[in-house]
Amino acid sequence: MASILRSSSASLRSAAHASATRSLSTAAHYFPNEPSGPQIKTQIPGPNNQKATAELNEVFDIRSLNLMADYEKSVGNYIADLDGNLLLDVYAQIASIPVGYNNPSLEKAAKSKEMTNALINRPAPGNFPSADWAHILKTGLLKAAPKGMNQVFTASSGSEANETAYKAAFIYYRQRERGGPNAEFTEEETTSSMVNQTPGSPHLSILSFKKAFHGRLFGSLSTTRSKPIHKLDIPAFDWPQAPFPALKYPLEEHAKENAEEEKRCLEEVEHIIKTFHNPVAAVVVEPVQSEGGDNHASPEFFRGLREVTKRNNVLLIVDEVQTGVGATGKFWAHDHWNLETPPDMVTFSKKAQTAGYYFGNPALRPNKPYRQFNTWIGDPARALTFRAILEEIERLNLVENTALTGEYLYAGLERLAQQYPNEIQNLRGKGQGTFIAWDSPTRDEFVAKAKTVGLNIGGSGASAIRLRPMLVFQKHHADLLLELIEKIFKL
Ligand SMILES: Cc1ncc(COP(=O)(O)O)c(C=O)c1O
Repeated sequence: MASILRSSSASLRSAAHASATRSLSTAAHYFPNEPSGPQIKTQIPGPNNQKATAELNEVFDIRSLNLMADYEKSVGNYIADLDGNLLLDVYAQIASIPVGYNNPSLEKAAKSKEMTNALINRPAPGNFPSADWAHILKTGLLKAAPKGMNQVFTASSGSEANETAYKAAFIYYRQRERGGPNAEFTEEETTSSMVNQTPGSPHLSILSFKKAFHGRLFGSLSTTRSKPIHKLDIPAFDWPQAPFPALKYPLEEHAKENAEEEKRCLEEVEHIIKTFHNPVAAVVVEPVQSEGGDNHASPEFFRGLREVTKRNNVLLIVDEVQTGVGATGKFWAHDHWNLETPPDMVTFSKKAQTAGYYFGNPALRPNKPYRQFNTWIGDPARALTFRAILEEIERLNLVENTALTGEYLYAGLERLAQQYPNEIQNLRGKGQGTFIAWDSPTRDEFVAKAKTVGLNIGGSGASAIRLRPMLVFQKHHADLLLELIEKIFKL
């Protein structure tokens, strides 16, 4: 299974590609019970949705509400609302639904005895793991572990995954300075830590990139740089940010400038690492800056980043919360980079339906218990869901499907961009599965109009429209999406 998930060998990859190309045009629909297109019966929101939203507003802040959904009636790539409307969903719960609404295989897993047990007897796995926890991890999460990684620390959300990875980086840094895992803490360290002072609470930092998004909790928020609204009023750590390459499109026409831009950013990363007043323990980076506007960089840039971090003894954390689990046409987006040495940690959440960080170096396990700990350390029930998702991905060859459907969709969008150059600017994500985006001068209007034609689509950053379909998005969905996009342009 691991080889199918990663498909690392070139011949395996090209054979799989050829057979999947054949199957793309003839592939059976994964969800035979999906409608042939969106069904719009009322304006959106319709009367039932308006009523239910008002009711919810009495007890819950609804100002970020996008669409109240009927999940029982949602199917495959289609999300249902309460008024009988069915929309093609290429936003998928902020990029977090992997294998379709009401997927029968997940339903089966949900009804298993193992799942019931995990749900009603939720363990605190750090203290009281169930006897089958190793089995659940080995047959699930660890089967999908990135190359070079055989350990996982589980968590509940993307922010938590990143924060625990940052903690592991700081502990590792100080352990190394102190002379290894067996060196004891000094009296001064233990007493100063209790009053949040150095040396017990050291002034170390995590370097992130401008426009990055790594979450909204205290530590992760200090590395988030996408929008002020997330950060305002919240005390932040004094941590550095480096420029992320601002690439120009089409890439082929700007190769030289883009290479120079990436070089400039890497030089700045190294300069910050060498000079920032709070020593940098780790660099955290998204393979594609997602919330910050779908900003891409080349594999060369990321290989360069790995070299810079290695050279300077700084850890590299790759945040695959949004890019992971197949959406870019490889199981992990960093598989596109051909790194000589793997990242030190890879964080995940969203399509995994659970969260955490993978690592390989045993020294990243803190030297004492309870240094990396919480009550739930994720949730075995969610780990079981991820296992069922992996089985579905393997059964239907969904990473390959996403790579090929993405190629097909990208080609269609290129054609549309030629016809509508003002509406589709800076098309990006070629060769990155369905992880495709473009800029639009009227982005917010576009996203709002989309609902009227039966399309649920999201934006990111200041002006990007981002596609985040599920892994069960097929060629016929791509055709429909292209039609709907053109229809919106004509509205
Ligand atoms: C790359 C990335 N990292 C971290 C997060 C935070 O994840 P969560 O919202 O689950 O805390 C997100 C959420 O969008 C993300 O896109």
